[in-house]
Amino acid sequence: MPTNFKVPIFDVKNLSYEINGVNILSNISLEIFNAQYIAIIGPNGGGKTTLVRMLLGLDKASSGEIRIFGKKLKDFKDWYKIGYVPQRASHVDANFPGTVLDIVSMGRTSQKGFFAKTTEEDKEAVDSAMQKMDIVDLKNKMIGTLSGGQRQRVVCARALASKPEVLILDEPNTGVDAISQNRFYSLLKELNKVQKITIVFITHDVGVIADDIARLFTVNQKLTTCNNPKQALSCKEMSELYGIDAHLLHNHKHGH
Ligand SMILES: Nc1ncnc2c1ncn2[C@@H]1O[C@H](COP(=O)(O)OP(=O)(O)OP(=O)(O)O)[C@@H](O)[C@H]1O
Ligand SMILES: [Mg+2]
Repeated sequence: MPTNFKVPIFDVKNLSYEINGVNILSNISLEIFNAQYIAIIGPNGGGKTTLVRMLLGLDKASSGEIRIFGKKLKDFKDWYKIGYVPQRASHVDANFPGTVLDIVSMGRTSQKGFFAKTTEEDKEAVDSAMQKMDIVDLKNKMIGTLSGGQRQRVVCARALASKPEVLILDEPNTGVDAISQNRFYSLLKELNKVQKITIVFITHDVGVIADDIARLFTVNQKLTTCNNPKQALSCKEMSELYGIDAHLLHNHKHGH
């Protein structure tokens, strides 16, 4: 069934989240539409990870409503449409018993169940994801023997292997070298522009991708949305709130 362009992929109303009486997120409302590329920024502890975990039903809101593809969160079942790279996903035990190929293939089994037969389509999706993340050479290595940056690429390939319509990435490239990072940003841009994948990208590096993104969300207990990211990144309120203005503009100027 084609995606209905008028229904937001995520439709969030008055969402709040508290832990032990402490407000982590207050009164968040947002809409994310098909094929949008959205960056989420904000200070450490601002609630970015908590927000995306709520969107994915991993943390339960204290109040408010979330709809995904038009369905109430509790009724939504098509989770294979959403690829998620959690923060620190690449931290694995050095003895974890799996190869790169095993890990990336897990992106297919989450959709079909463990005992389903591997098809040509599965193989093609896994190969294509490994190529995109430039890890084909590593495919028979044990994941625990790879560097941090290589592991990040593996977990991103796992998310891509399910051919998601939406990709949610929580600081996926912390510790990745500059060349790999720029390749990664180009890839995200291509996934969004060419394949029309909706991207929600939590990053502290937003200056470099300011030209690519459609909207910017800042999260610091409350949410501020902005449809003109470049303007937002240079505004006074932003620099006062987050102390990032100079850093971001610097990155932006030198990032191309
Ligand atoms: N399980 C938990 N128990 C108690 N407090 C929590 C829990 N998870 C998150 N918090 C608190 O919620 C707040 C928001 O955390 P969150 O991880 O969402 O922030 P973040 O914006 O993703 O930060 P970072 O940039 O460091 O990743 C923090 O104050 C954190 O201490
Ligand atoms: Mg976080």
